[in-house]
Amino acid sequence: SATSPLAGRRIVVSAGPTFEDIDPVRFIGNRSSGKMGFAIAGAAAQRGAEVVLVAGPVSLPTPAGVGRINVRSAAQMHATVLGALPADVYIGAAAVADYTPRQMAAGKIKKQPGQDTLVLELVRTADVLADVAAHPLRPRLVVGFAAETHDVAHYARGKLVNKKVDLIAANRVGVEGSGFESDDNALVVYAADGETALGPAPKPQLADELLDLVAARLAEA
Ligand code: PMT
Repeated sequence: SATSPLAGRRIVVSAGPTFEDIDPVRFIGNRSSGKMGFAIAGAAAQRGAEVVLVAGPVSLPTPAGVGRINVRSAAQMHATVLGALPADVYIGAAAVADYTPRQMAAGKIKKQPGQDTLVLELVRTADVLADVAAHPLRPRLVVGFAAETHDVAHYARGKLVNKKVDLIAANRVGVEGSGFESDDNALVVYAADGETALGPAPKPQLADELLDLVAARLAEA
């Protein structure tokens, strides 16, 4: 609605995994259905924001009122998200690959007789979230996620500081009922001045609650 602090704001959301090609038929990817990020994009559009959704390879319909750009690799996601600035808010819900094959093979890699192992050389990808936060066109609010199997609070607080973001929404992965693929999730949102637990709840409801925190911070100052 026009009364929402998000109305008329430009919000860039990333969602889904990235796929890093090994050869024309194989890739390395992260687990992500895109549900969390798509729910955030849809909820932001409902509040009247101008939403750019940068989506990795997922099979989800585009939420109403959302402008969607499809990408495949971490490099494409990096270029597309940075190219979508300036924006008021960035929310990085994508599961971006941290490493990519040094080189994609031009042809299908064939099994060699007697070869029982295959070594792939991987190189670090650029960090989309950290580069948005350090960008000359830095959005007023930069929100990252942290997907952790253990020591969630410790790693999430580390990402908040190291990536210089305003909020980190941390979730447990590798357990039933939260994280990737499931319809539900639970978040602990870390900020420099405290933390807020959201859920467990369906992802669309969590998206709305996360946007309440975002809206409150945008309304400040
Ligand atoms: O898509 P779903 O199935 O609904 O699952 C949702 C989710 C579990 C994928 C989502 O809630 C989530 O946690 N997304 C972030 C997953 C992730 O890659 O977390 P991370 O802790 O590895 O990365 C931390 C932050 O840095 C994230 O905001 C990530 O987008 C960002 N990042 C990481 C690496 C990189 N090269 N560039 C980045 O921007």
